[in-house]
Amino acid sequence: MVLPDTDLLKQQNRDYILQPASSIRALLDKGPDIICSAKGCTVTDTDGRELLDAVAGLWCVNAGYGREDLADVMREASVKLAYYHTFSNASNPWQIALAEKLISIAPGKLSKVFFGNGGSDANDTLMKIAWHYNHLRGKPGKTRFIARDRAYHGTSISTASLTGLGVFHKEFPLPLDFVLRTDCPHYYRNALPGESETAFCDRMIANVAELIEREGADTIAAFFAEPIFAAGGIVEPPQDYFPKLQALLKQHDILLVADEVVCGYGRLGSWFGSEQLGIEPDMMASAKGLTSGYFPLSAAFITDDIWAVLRDGTDITGGFYHGYTYSGHPVGCAVALANLEVIENEGMIKLAADNGAYLHQSLKEVLGSNPWVGEIRGRGLLAGIQLVADKDTRELPPAAEKWPVTVTSRMRGLGVIARPLAGPATIALSPPLIISRAEIDRTVSALADSIRF
Ligand SMILES: Cc1ncc(COP(=O)(O)O)c(C=O)c1O
Repeated sequence: MVLPDTDLLKQQNRDYILQPASSIRALLDKGPDIICSAKGCTVTDTDGRELLDAVAGLWCVNAGYGREDLADVMREASVKLAYYHTFSNASNPWQIALAEKLISIAPGKLSKVFFGNGGSDANDTLMKIAWHYNHLRGKPGKTRFIARDRAYHGTSISTASLTGLGVFHKEFPLPLDFVLRTDCPHYYRNALPGESETAFCDRMIANVAELIEREGADTIAAFFAEPIFAAGGIVEPPQDYFPKLQALLKQHDILLVADEVVCGYGRLGSWFGSEQLGIEPDMMASAKGLTSGYFPLSAAFITDDIWAVLRDGTDITGGFYHGYTYSGHPVGCAVALANLEVIENEGMIKLAADNGAYLHQSLKEVLGSNPWVGEIRGRGLLAGIQLVADKDTRELPPAAEKWPVTVTSRMRGLGVIARPLAGPATIALSPPLIISRAEIDRTVSALADSIRF
């Protein structure tokens, strides 16, 4: 594609596109940042400016940009079978091969996979499966879901309802009333004065128990949780949180759904976050790193116990009536399988663990004494830098001053892209798993130069 000049592109962008999660006014005033090529961890804009992408797009380009082997696999699959649907018992060799690989790496007892297009539809699919499963089991009243404050599970009508960030609700009639909200288990921000981390964890679990008691376990189908919150501020719960939560949910016949859309496929230094956080999911959503963003594809997983109920159900209903035109897309499945192979064969999971440890160590060394940095958190190549107006009181910066945006704009000026998370006043990093130590050093140094008020 021959590109028109940048000014014309920007004007056409203003004229024709409604962009996701963007300020229309800012787009009209300043125009978009148009990225037109990328390689490794670096993206290039239409002015020829190179930027180190320390967020891997939207937390997704795990294997890095511009891989010809992945492009070749997509070309080959497109030529062989550009598309065929998977409704009405149709299948293709690519979804079969990918499913076999996914089940071999999936945590716990997950044993069947459903393919979709993105993280939102994976979570939406799992909500519907939870409904269907309970209906078939003769428990049709179990229709509600528990989700946490500051969670992010997507922006469709159902998943925006699970999402616990106010900007995705206000000005829409959301959240829908089948979502019950519980606390964000963030010790640094939500602990009571003098409360130990163990006592805090127990209080979080007791609050869930109370919610279940109050609302009735017979009305609740599932609990949705990211192993580590991503968009809500890179928040990791106390160590005992998930094992205790899981035991409580089991007692009440409530499914635990791990939303691994960000944590999955190597980001934390293991295939899935569940392995590190002590989760044995009943269901699991994944997308993003599944194809490293080379193709829109999601994989939603269930256990054999759930599958057996659905299987017996189709004897009564005639079918599992859910799916998308592009479920099991041959090109997407081909590139996902190749992507998982390169992640495995090139040792990217170990890289995420080792270089992740290096990143966290560097962040602590360089930013630990910065007066505007309250907490540095995360694991592997997922990191959050908490901005505070007062380190001792942990007071957040005034929202109106938009500190996270100021910091990331300055970093961009220094050639590094980081992600501002406005609500939790946090800067997020989630670079490609192939980021080098020199690139980590550049990222940390740009952060250090930019966090000043
Ligand atoms: C944890 C989590 N779940 C779900 C989603 C939604 O994915 P998508 O934007 O592909 O619908 C996201 C997106 O960032 C996410 O971070």
